[in-house]
Amino acid sequence: MRTSFTVSKSVPAAASVIAIPVASDGPVPKEVGLTRAQLTAMGFDGRCCTSLPISPAKGSKSARVLIGIGAVKDINESTMRNIGAAAARACAKHGSMATTLAGVSRLNKRAAAKVFVEGAALALHRWVNLKNDKSSLPALTKITLVGDSADAKAGVAEGVAVATAVCTARDHANTPPSHLTATKFAREAVTIAKKSGLKVTVYDKKQLEAMGCGGIVGVNAGSVEPPRVVKLVWAPTGATNKVVLVGKGVMYDSGGISLKPSDASHASMKMDMSGAAAVLGAMSALKALKVKTHVTAYLMCTDNLPSGSAMKLGDVLTFRNGKTAEIHNTDAEGRLILADGLSLGAEGKPDAMVDIATLTGACMGALGKKMAGVLGNNQGVVDQLLASSGRTDELLWQLPLFQDYRALLDSNVADMKNVGGPYGGAITASLFLNEFTNGVPWAHLDIAGPMEADGDNGWLNRGATAFGTRLLIDFVANFKKPVKAPKK
Ligand code: BES
Ligand code: MN
Ligand code: ZN
Repeated sequence: MRTSFTVSKSVPAAASVIAIPVASDGPVPKEVGLTRAQLTAMGFDGRCCTSLPISPAKGSKSARVLIGIGAVKDINESTMRNIGAAAARACAKHGSMATTLAGVSRLNKRAAAKVFVEGAALALHRWVNLKNDKSSLPALTKITLVGDSADAKAGVAEGVAVATAVCTARDHANTPPSHLTATKFAREAVTIAKKSGLKVTVYDKKQLEAMGCGGIVGVNAGSVEPPRVVKLVWAPTGATNKVVLVGKGVMYDSGGISLKPSDASHASMKMDMSGAAAVLGAMSALKALKVKTHVTAYLMCTDNLPSGSAMKLGDVLTFRNGKTAEIHNTDAEGRLILADGLSLGAEGKPDAMVDIATLTGACMGALGKKMAGVLGNNQGVVDQLLASSGRTDELLWQLPLFQDYRALLDSNVADMKNVGGPYGGAITASLFLNEFTNGVPWAHLDIAGPMEADGDNGWLNRGATAFGTRLLIDFVANFKKPVKAPKK
């Protein structure tokens, strides 16, 4: 992450721009030097996340930009995150910004600073590693929150940890497939784990074969790049709750023998590891956030390619938990690698498991690109994820784990097929995954829709979104043992 944040009692004289909050009602701050009527005449009404550059104050070199904050009583954490993003965008061409914006709401100072930092940092994030012309990078790299307090400082530190996690996950998902192979991604994970106080184990192809992980080995069969499974453990002292996270890390999804068409969306399949990237990002923030939950993560990494050695339609794979599946479509590969990941996760008997995966076009078809689907065998886990969704503004919509459709996966030769036909694809994919949860309370996040943003808007920028990174951090940080009995 390129943006640095500090907290200060007063506006630094060197600030290149000052972002000044203006509400949509009540008096205009005196320092603005303009009346409400004048602002209205200039087309600025203080609505949330609007902005208006004005001239510098007398005797000051700092540029000034008014930032609309709407009605102060309406500002919640999501609004404050949006305000952070709006201020960063409005001031992006200045090198350093100072602002009192994070202090204007009724939110506590810590929470407000945290989400303001998230919004600003994420709005300013770009991935330009492979561009010679870096001019699309915002000039703004230094932000000072004016309003000195221990709470604001703590909030900034938390916001920086979260935003760093998201930016790292976005960078990974934006990286082209031949630049970020499973082997390289696993190396990155080891580096990050060492910095973030995590235990890390990397399993290679031989080990995965020996472990009976026929799903990931099967999906990998067509590739010259070997697979990797990365196990990360956050083990805080005195933890009483245990959670497992599993991320789909398909470094590139060509579809395999069931080859995808070469349309524009095919290039996005470098992002088919967005689930694993979100999990790695989330794990990287747990130490800084002093998370009390014990968290074990599995990043399931391979690409899915066709070749003479690739898995074929009609082949049967045997997974880590001993179950078998007949392959009817090699493009339904995500569930095959998650099957091994969930099996491994369930062996540790955690209180809950969550997997996150760019799993089905069907989920994107149902819910569009602005929200992910959530399905699970335990409403308590799903409810905690929905609560995290509300706090993080990463939108989820629950779909049913409808047991009647399990019959659609029936196979003549194996325990199940890997596809359930043309309808209800997000549900049949989840029913497949449920076969590997071994009764552990579990929920699945299908992020095929929101993995990529088509434009720059608020705290999102065009490209990989790292959807789920903040949601998973919030989930593990607030996790309680689910009380409701698992659904049958
Ligand atoms: N990675 C894709 C799903 C996907 C599609 C993610 C679009 C993001 C955007 C997944 O592996 C896949 O190919 N799913 C198939 C499953 C089908 C063959 C049952 C799909 O959705 O078409
Ligand atoms: Mn696929
Ligand atoms: Zn895929």
